[in-house]
Amino acid sequence: MVYPEYRPRRMRRNEALRSLIRETSLSAAQLVYPLFIVPGKKVKKEVSSMPGVHQISVDQIAIEAKELQTLGVNAVILFGIPEKKDGLGSGAHDQDGIVQRAIRELKNKIPELLVITDVCLCEYTDHGHCGFLVNDEVDNDTTLEILAKTALSHAKAGADLVAPSDMMDGRVAEIRATLDENNFEMMPIMSYAVKYASAYYGPFRDAAESTPQFGDRRAYQMDPANSREALREATLDVDEGADVLMVKPALAYLDIIARLRDEFDLPLAAYQVSGEYAMIKAAEAKGWIDGERVMQEALLSIKRAGADIIITYFAKEMARLLMK
Ligand code: PBG
Ligand code: ZN
Repeated sequence: MVYPEYRPRRMRRNEALRSLIRETSLSAAQLVYPLFIVPGKKVKKEVSSMPGVHQISVDQIAIEAKELQTLGVNAVILFGIPEKKDGLGSGAHDQDGIVQRAIRELKNKIPELLVITDVCLCEYTDHGHCGFLVNDEVDNDTTLEILAKTALSHAKAGADLVAPSDMMDGRVAEIRATLDENNFEMMPIMSYAVKYASAYYGPFRDAAESTPQFGDRRAYQMDPANSREALREATLDVDEGADVLMVKPALAYLDIIARLRDEFDLPLAAYQVSGEYAMIKAAEAKGWIDGERVMQEALLSIKRAGADIIITYFAKEMARLLMK
């Protein structure tokens, strides 16, 4: 069928027709909101490069979580900024650590809220890298053990889902085995399977105080130029027992999201990272773009590319818009 028999504009004439045939939609139930937990009491400090996003103390998170719930957002991912950092990142698996306390607080006050935890060491190491250093290089196999210990400590504190973001080889298998040995065989793993060494993480590192003190993360995070490698990474994580796969960042990697969607049948998450958020906020503040519409368009593109779950700093704003 060609013009003039087929006129695509017929179905675009008004909003009722457009919404009748809309192929993709967003739902608050599939958004995940990141929370940055800091020591202290009554802390709610805006991250300078992420307007609207705050570092908060444990006593404030129930308030935050209740607000999310009223908006229909039922999942958070936790990042902790510990009081002290050390060479081994030992704060990461402290049963009384910052994230562990935050999990218990949330599970006490709002048991239905889904609590996801980021499993990594960079916020806990004094050098800011995601694992143990041996001669200034992150040593893969010694790091695995501490990651597994960290995931286990989150499970013990009551987390619902653990999400390793370190990009060490073999970490999904190691975490799965440790969880299983400790009777947490029902704890799912959402693997940051395809995580690129990205400049889009800049504002996050302000929020999480996790900038590497020397060098960069290119020896463990993926090269932005590669997409076949993304399939190999994802295949490994599937074989090691991942329950959900993740691609990160999102907008600059929509092709990767689409490829993983085609190749794998596991649920797929995408992380719309701090830099993606900051760029929209900055251009909006300058009056250069309509921030709300650009937010919607970006989130829709991630969904359209094939993501089921979106981790986003826009979760509240988007959910508010969905309620209108
Ligand atoms: C920790 C981690 C990072 C992000 C999530 N988990 C930072 C990094 O790898 O440097 C980035 C999230 C964001 O930018 O919003 N490994
Ligand atoms: Zn890390």
